[in-house]
Amino acid sequence: MDSTFFDQYHDRSNTGAYKWEAHKVPGPYYSPVPADEIVPMWIADTDFATAPSVVEAIAKRISHPLFGYTIPSPEYFAAISRWHKNRYGNPDVKARHILNHTSVLAGVGAAIEAFTLPGENILVNQTTYTGFQSTVKNLGRFLVYSPLKKDENGIYRMDFEDMEKKIVSEKITMMIFCSPHNPTGRVWEKEEVESVVNLCAKHGVKLVSDEIWADFVVDPTCHHTPTRSVSDKAKEITISMYAPSKTFNLAGLAGSYSVTYNPLLKDKMSKVAEANHSGAVSILSIAACTGRYQGGSEYVDEMLKYVRKNQELMCDFFNSCAGVSAELPQGTYVLWVDFAETGEDVGVIRDKLKEVGVITTDGRGYHGKAFLRFNCACPRANCEKAIKAMKKVFSPK
Ligand SMILES: Cc1ncc(COP(=O)(O)O)c(C=O)c1O
Repeated sequence: MDSTFFDQYHDRSNTGAYKWEAHKVPGPYYSPVPADEIVPMWIADTDFATAPSVVEAIAKRISHPLFGYTIPSPEYFAAISRWHKNRYGNPDVKARHILNHTSVLAGVGAAIEAFTLPGENILVNQTTYTGFQSTVKNLGRFLVYSPLKKDENGIYRMDFEDMEKKIVSEKITMMIFCSPHNPTGRVWEKEEVESVVNLCAKHGVKLVSDEIWADFVVDPTCHHTPTRSVSDKAKEITISMYAPSKTFNLAGLAGSYSVTYNPLLKDKMSKVAEANHSGAVSILSIAACTGRYQGGSEYVDEMLKYVRKNQELMCDFFNSCAGVSAELPQGTYVLWVDFAETGEDVGVIRDKLKEVGVITTDGRGYHGKAFLRFNCACPRANCEKAIKAMKKVFSPK
């Protein structure tokens, strides 16, 4: 496999792809331009075909035409174990630690219901993935935000003093930790992960570590540290969430899993997931997750290099525009772009971009006042097309 695999354009119109349908109907993603001028860079799925080994595994399962009640095979659990060993250097994930969920947010929701009561406060770093906000709110709990702050080198850092103050004053019982972080793209250093664990352990806070972006370390000098792997304390208090969906473009198949070493925590989560009927993954998701092994690693390695080049291209463009600034992220396939210096309302900028066919995510939903988020996981030609269109909106520096 080489970069030409990711250059391929797949027409996703009329396949039910949310990313490619939302611009057609009135609403926040509507764009008046003809379909062939649209470049959707909002929702976080890729425009890449999934890995050939995943397609083969799904096709093989489909060739047996019965799709009844299903239990995950031993190969499924073995495949997850191998992935954690080979990709994250975490060799001790076993079937007994794994619980299935229909989605990562279903797993996060199960953890919230298992370990907090309605009305309790949950800590997150700010900016914050929108899905945490809606899940916590819909379950009748409250979010407490601890802002990330840029250090002297422009790197987003957690403010541990502020986090501890809030844990105490707001009687926090759970933290949802996003690692790597969406939308800033921070890949947390081991010491930072240790500090989060120590803080939570000290105050009896359960730690939900959402690692859905673990495969997406695009800065080759960085390394993903699974939260639960940093210490014995971490093993006791951490529920880690994963899915192959971001990496292999499988969100439509509905499937994710948590890894929890502490059997008491896992059992409690399991009961909630059973009660909510959210503890199952689809038959094709099991096949896909198992199938990512033959060639899946090579696919990811090539994709990371490809996405990095897209981010570089987009980043260079944004930094050439008056009032706009962007930095290459350490992780994820998005770019978190700052429009503050344009002096213009970011909603107005987003509307102008829609008028030229470029559909973005409004950063204000993430509490990024002057930011838009751009998904760069698409064929390079799409980035080039977006840049050409955006030249009509921004003037050069
Ligand atoms: C940090 C994070 N967690 C969870 C999700 C959603 O995962 P799922 O669709 O499996 O609920 C996303 C999607 O963008 C995400 O960025």
